[in-house]
Order: sequence, then C-alpha cells, then structure tokens
Amino acid sequence: MAASLEKPKYTRPRTAARWKHGLLLALFLALWFLLLIFRLQDSPAHQTKDVKTNAPAKPDRSPATLAATCDGGDMVYIYELPPKFNFGLLNDCRRLNIYMDMCPHVANRGLGQPVAPVLGPGRWHATHQFIGEMIFHARMERHPCRTNDPARAHIFYVPFYGGLYASSKFREQDLRSRDELAVELAEYLQGFPWWQRHGGRDHFLALGRTAWDFMRKSNQGPDFGANVLLDLPAIKNMSVLTVERQPWSGLNQYGMPYPSYFHPTTLDQMLTWQDKVRQSERPYLFSFIGGPRKGLEKAAVRDELIKQCAESSQCRLMKCVGGDSKCHSPVEILKAMMSSRFCLQAPGDSFTRRSTFDSVLAGCIPVFFSRHTAYTQYMWFLPEDHSEYSVYVDAESGGALTTKIEDVLSKISAERVEKMRSKVVELIPRLTYAHPNATNLGFKDAVDVALETLARHVKSELSSLS
Ligand SMILES: *[C@@H]1O[C@H](CO)[C@@H](O)[C@H](O)[C@H]1NC(C)=O
Ligand SMILES: *[C@@H]1O[C@H](CO)[C@@H](O)[C@H](O)[C@H]1NC(C)=O
Repeated sequence: MAASLEKPKYTRPRTAARWKHGLLLALFLALWFLLLIFRLQDSPAHQTKDVKTNAPAKPDRSPATLAATCDGGDMVYIYELPPKFNFGLLNDCRRLNIYMDMCPHVANRGLGQPVAPVLGPGRWHATHQFIGEMIFHARMERHPCRTNDPARAHIFYVPFYGGLYASSKFREQDLRSRDELAVELAEYLQGFPWWQRHGGRDHFLALGRTAWDFMRKSNQGPDFGANVLLDLPAIKNMSVLTVERQPWSGLNQYGMPYPSYFHPTTLDQMLTWQDKVRQSERPYLFSFIGGPRKGLEKAAVRDELIKQCAESSQCRLMKCVGGDSKCHSPVEILKAMMSSRFCLQAPGDSFTRRSTFDSVLAGCIPVFFSRHTAYTQYMWFLPEDHSEYSVYVDAESGGALTTKIEDVLSKISAERVEKMRSKVVELIPRLTYAHPNATNLGFKDAVDVALETLARHVKSELSSLS
C-alpha cells in the first residue's frame, strides 16, 4: 500500500542563479584559502609544510594540514569499563533489540552500513536512530580533549551502552535481572577515588535511547520494559546525555542529537554539503515522512497531518507502513526533505524524533507540534529563540488539530523562509556526529558541543556545591 510518490521536481537553476552561485563559491574559496594560510602560519607543527607561491588554484584542504587541539582546554577521562558494560554486549547483537537484528546497525562502531556517497563527499551510513551512544564513544576515543590521566581530567565519561542494554531486556519479566547491569555499574563507579572526590558530579553518561527507558521507578505507569538506571542515586549525581530527556523531572538529563546519516571527516565535506542544501530546489511547501500510530494519544496529530498532507498539492507525503523500504533509505528520505521548504515533525512513540535531525541536515525547516519535540530537549544545541529556525503549531492541548498547516506555512514570507533556512543550515555542523576516525575536523560537531557545554556545566555545579 505504498503511497504513490512523485519524483522530486528538480529543475535546473536559471543561468543568473548559477552565475550568482559560481560567484559566491569563488568568493568563498578565496576566503577559505586565506583562512588556511592563517591557520598554517599559526600552527608550529605545520610550519615546514610547503605553502608554495605557485600553489594550485584549489587550496589543499586535506585534514592533515590542520592541527587537532582541545579548544576549550577541558580534558576528559574515559573509564575503561569491563566489557559487559559496552563492547561485550555487542557479541549478542542479534538480541540487543527485541524488534530487530541489530548486527548491521552496530557495525562500524555504530555508524551502521555504509551508503554510497551519492549525495555528496564524506561518509554516509544508514545509521540507526538509537545508536548515538556507540558513535559518541567511538568519537571520544580519538577526541583531542581525551586524557589518559584521571588526575588531569575535568570531566569523566562512562561509556556504558545503556540503550542497547535496555532494549535487550524490554521483555525481561524478572525486574532484578532487568536492572542488574545498571545497579552493577553504579556500584562499580563508586569504588573509584575519582568518583568519590565529587560524588560523581563531574561524571557523565551518553545514552542512545530516551530517558523513559531508564526510569521505571519514578515514571509510574504501565510497564513497557524500562529499567531503573536513571533512578539510582549514584546516576542521579551524574550528568546524563540522552536523545530525549524527561522534560519535567529529568533535571540532570540533557538532550543530545539523534544521529543522522552524514558522518564527515573534514570541514571541506561539511561545507560542500551545506552549499548543496542551500542551493537545493524546493518545489514542495512541506512534507511529511512517517507512519500512522494506533491508539497513542501523543501521536493522534499524526493521522491528521497525513490526511492534510495527502490532500494538499503542495505537500510531499512519504507514508511509512510496514517494511516500506523507501522510509529506511537515507537517500530517499533526504531527497524528499531537500525538495521541501518545511518538514512536519509530529511526535511518535515519544516526544522526540530522529527525523528532526534528518530535516535539519536537509536544510528543511522543522515544524513542531509539541514543545517537547525539541525546545525543552536540545537546549545545549539549538538557539534559544525557536522562531529563528522552526515553526510551532500548538497541538499539545490534545483533541483534533484544527489548524490548516498549509495556510500557516504559506503565509510565511519568502524572505523569512530564506532567513530561517539559512539558520537551519548553519546548525548542521553542531547537530552532526562526525566520523569517529576524523581527527582534525575543523568544525565543532555534536560531540564537541556536548563536551564544551558539559565542562562548563560541571564547573558551575562544583562551585555551587563547595
Ligand atoms: C578507523 O580507522 C581504523 C584504522 O585505520 C579502522 O580499522 C576502523 O575501521 C576505522 N573506523 C571506522 C568506524 O571506520
Ligand atoms: C552524590 O553527591 C553528594 C554530594 O553532592 C554526595 O554526598 C553523595 O555521596 C553522592 N552519592 C553517591 C552515590 O556517590
């Protein structure tokens, strides 16, 4: 029952527009070259690198020309956990998730299966939505702020694959057994002098699943398989990065981006991609990619959105039912989003959606229907003024959505749309998980932003305690 989908109507840019783009590109390359020379002169390690006068017209943008330094100066120590807390779990990758075989998804340190770079240069993977914790770990291992000396560390990263563990135990009826590894982790950490120094206040976790999966005790309700990790006193002392925080009681929880498909290794690849989405033709006013949800109150708005989208000639609908392969194809998803000016982000099983991050990656302005889909979640990553980069349609009061989305969106001036999109495109680097093997990235990705903000946060926590 796949909805019939038109191919995106890519039209060739008019000559004048092409001229403008060419001019901008040339200007940009010139600026970039100046910056490169400046960086080379600045970096003692590369002073011997030949910057010949007869340099090629295109500057050498190879990553080796930029030195990797820990910008903020705050160092991170990574705990060497017993394998049962992370890598050991992967041995049984077929059983890490009760709904699907995770083996293809945990491959390549969590990036998943490679996708041919048909969209642009850089590494592209069919990355699973709940695998951020693995990518975070892989990226941390080669991060310039890493120190192997706990005495020099300002913050301490505990690389527990809690999300994978949780999803492997959703059907475990014996609660003790379901919680076991979480309880063991808390006990294990408390044995270290580095923990005891500040009671774990300078320690953090990064979890690839939503906080709801780790709050069985505090979140009274039907048992859907959660454990108690985030209810444990030791863990409550830590900072917890999670793709979805509990907006009301998750006071030590901080939203981190879901991983999308683009994992660049250089600034050049990032800039090329940003250029591409800026220039993308967007014949559709809006689009919706997703499936209907049965019986879920939060997701009631979904059915209405699907209906409105199907009825509008200005909306591109990619309805996901069953195993529709299009909806799992990074290329199809991004192409649809790149041909639309706005992308609807209806809540699904929980408030947040990975799709929000796909949408930003595609330069498609997200439209939210709940404040908890992004605004109360990713405060460390998104501008405070939501209207700069998104549209909000209030559907939190429940009941039927009476707003006609097409009317709301078509009233926004072209100039304003342009401005918002430019903000969205500007946000791409900080919401992207760079390739873990990238060492001299040249831009701040999601992990860099998380570390910088954590370090600041921990400092203020500790000073307020002392
Ligand atoms: C990173 O590089 C190492 C060594 O070259 C390689 O074995 C590994 O597969 C790479 N990691 C990823 C995620 O591609
Ligand atoms: C949590 O932190 C407080 C200090 O803020 C400390 O007294 C307590 O022992 C810590 N809890 C654990 C389990 O380490």
